[in-house]
Amino acid sequence: MSAKEPSTPQYQVDLEPVGRRVQVGSEATLLKAAQEAGVELVAVCGGAGSCGTCRVRLASGNLSPPSLVEQAELSASDLSEGMRLACQASPRSDVRVDIPPDSLTAPQRLQIEGLEFNISVDPLVTAVDLQVDPPSLFDLRSDESRVQSALSAAGRSKATFDLALLAELPGLLRQEDWSLRLAVRDNQVVALLPLQRDLLGLAVDIGTTKLAAYLVDLASGVTLAKSGAMNPQIAYGEDVVSRIAYACQNSDGRQVLQEKLVETLNQLVGDLCMEVGIDRDQIVEAVAVGNTAMHHLFCGLPVRQLGLAPYVPVVSDPLEMPARDIGLDLASGALLYLPANIAGYVGADHVAMLLAVELFQNQGAVIALDIGTNTEITLALETQVGRRLLSCSCASGPAFEGAHIHDGMRAAPGAIERVQITNGEVRLHTIAGERPVGICGSGILDAVAGLLDAGVLDRRGVLGKDHPGVRQRDGCVEYLLAPAGITGHGRDLVVTRQDVNEIQLAKGAIRAGIEILLRDAGLQVEDIEMLIVAGAFGTYLDMESAIRVGMFPNLPRERFHQVGNAAGMGAKQMLISSERRRLAAEYARDIEYIELTTHPSFTEEFVRALVF
Ligand code: FES
Repeated sequence: MSAKEPSTPQYQVDLEPVGRRVQVGSEATLLKAAQEAGVELVAVCGGAGSCGTCRVRLASGNLSPPSLVEQAELSASDLSEGMRLACQASPRSDVRVDIPPDSLTAPQRLQIEGLEFNISVDPLVTAVDLQVDPPSLFDLRSDESRVQSALSAAGRSKATFDLALLAELPGLLRQEDWSLRLAVRDNQVVALLPLQRDLLGLAVDIGTTKLAAYLVDLASGVTLAKSGAMNPQIAYGEDVVSRIAYACQNSDGRQVLQEKLVETLNQLVGDLCMEVGIDRDQIVEAVAVGNTAMHHLFCGLPVRQLGLAPYVPVVSDPLEMPARDIGLDLASGALLYLPANIAGYVGADHVAMLLAVELFQNQGAVIALDIGTNTEITLALETQVGRRLLSCSCASGPAFEGAHIHDGMRAAPGAIERVQITNGEVRLHTIAGERPVGICGSGILDAVAGLLDAGVLDRRGVLGKDHPGVRQRDGCVEYLLAPAGITGHGRDLVVTRQDVNEIQLAKGAIRAGIEILLRDAGLQVEDIEMLIVAGAFGTYLDMESAIRVGMFPNLPRERFHQVGNAAGMGAKQMLISSERRRLAAEYARDIEYIELTTHPSFTEEFVRALVF
């Protein structure tokens, strides 16, 4: 970091969605701050202010007033929305800035892959091809009546059209020479298309951090294209709690969060359509899953009650609505299905995950969990009176997403994702092989496990001060993971006692959740036949490290399965199969939700799980 005048005010710059924070003086530009943090912004003109490639958006805090260069380069509406040139603007308070994907040289790592399962395809929307009699002076029936007659001639029931589809009907009939393909759902027409156009569906997983979207052929069930993006709401709060706060504290907060999300999803849909070479009017159905807060914010529902005990959702039953009602740009009548939520902190994404991992294929007990700021855990077991599903949610905190960790960052290029400590020698692996600039969740977990194995950390999480590599700085004990000479920003990367504490709290909460579910079901750890870990962090974590720190029980390794984005796969299943949609609703109905905060054994289990 450059030398600073002692009198220069220092401000924290929070760079989202990368999740890096850096302290800089008020004279430093945001571009300089990003460089100090190891975040590479596109800066084609090298900071001269002439290329406009370094755009960022101010999400909170104050920046220097727009310079003349910015006023020339950015439109008035850009400026009013907080868009700035990073090479021109400097902080005047602690700030949070949102970096659009185009301004980042290297993309974030997005988890969109998941295990595909073979299920029979049975979509709710099907195609009906019709040849319609054209009108004449002797046949003055309306266009809609002609289509109804053609349907009847084809042995189909009368169908209903809403106004938007009726408006499309005359143009398409005449353009296509009186033939057309109807996309029909329960005798309701949801789209009008030329013959030969395939009917497609959209499955979406709305994560707090990341979005994953899948374009699926409804007739074959094949995924034609998939894509991911960062959730744009990160600019307004990195976790669910801060987003709820934003929605409640700003008069238009809920609307802003919904619009940003829908805008990004519409862009993703556009990208997917372009990749496959289809029209977005061919997307006739959508299924979206997310945690309960994302679900509510997506629909524009109030979230205040989700942020206050006892954390009650507005609605927990499945919802279905025209996609256009929330601004999703698909076929005019396309329906959007949102599966059931279980509770304030167990959402439809967890139900989708349970659906995708085929819970009841085995006789024994299965634990399935999705690790995030909140970790949802389900224990599934067969009993003599039928299957049981016990679920809980534990506050595992944002440590595994790199937050609240001294040198933490999200999984982006330059993040340390693997750490091995052997005989005092530290070996690091970074995403994209770049020089390290921070530590992501899997890296910090590895580091803690390695320090335990090396005897640097004790069971309570205390760093041994006499150990080489351990030092005291500014009154804090820390372990030097990467010296300044090898890092991408020329500063040491360390693991602090506080970092270890964050990991203890996170893994303790998860382990306590597992133990409570087992205890309530009358089972022992050894009864777990399969432990399934889903989600982005779960994909990349090293299972040995997770077991070493005590997050998971020490079971035979073949019982552990990492399944990627199972929530997205579950959403896809609900899109292509009415049977799977029914099963998901059944799961949601049958789940016995266990509230940990009031559980009599939680404190005891949590305290026990804190030690390594
Ligand atoms: S780097 Fe070119 S305008 Fe900022």
